[in-house]
Amino acid sequence: MCLIRCYPTNPWLALCLKFRMEFMAEHVVDAPEVDLSKPPAEGMVRVTFLPEGRTVEFEFDSLPYEGHGQPMSFLDVAENFHVFLDHACGGVCACTTCHLHVKEGASGISEPEDLELDRLETAAGIELNSRLGCQAVIEKPGAYVVEIPKWNRNYVQEGKPAHGPGS
Ligand code: FES
Repeated sequence: MCLIRCYPTNPWLALCLKFRMEFMAEHVVDAPEVDLSKPPAEGMVRVTFLPEGRTVEFEFDSLPYEGHGQPMSFLDVAENFHVFLDHACGGVCACTTCHLHVKEGASGISEPEDLELDRLETAAGIELNSRLGCQAVIEKPGAYVVEIPKWNRNYVQEGKPAHGPGS
């Protein structure tokens, strides 16, 4: 069954998304302000999620694993900081709802495995810098900028997360 096609019209999945967004809206953790006028300090990772423009910063390899996607993947980071990044399959490389465009920092993230490449081929709006947020792992300190593609943003807007993309 194709999750992408059935997701907007499947009432159970829509209900799950609604509950998740309500939970996240109530449990947003304010991360400390990030000084964008300076590069990240040594040993730090800085990730900016577009188009929301939310930037988070943390010590490399210090985040607790949130159980979604690969440890230190963009999805794992998003979950740690309560940034909305859809992940209909739970981060097991079985959908494309976590599709991201890597705008900055590509050299610091893991190479895609065959499974991710196969899955990406089914994604809408695929570009050379496309990755699955649950599979692209941050492997070294530095600055990273990722963008949720337009088709995914529009899709998320149906539920309008309080702090999510396109809201
Ligand atoms: Fe399904 Fe990443 S969350 S492939």
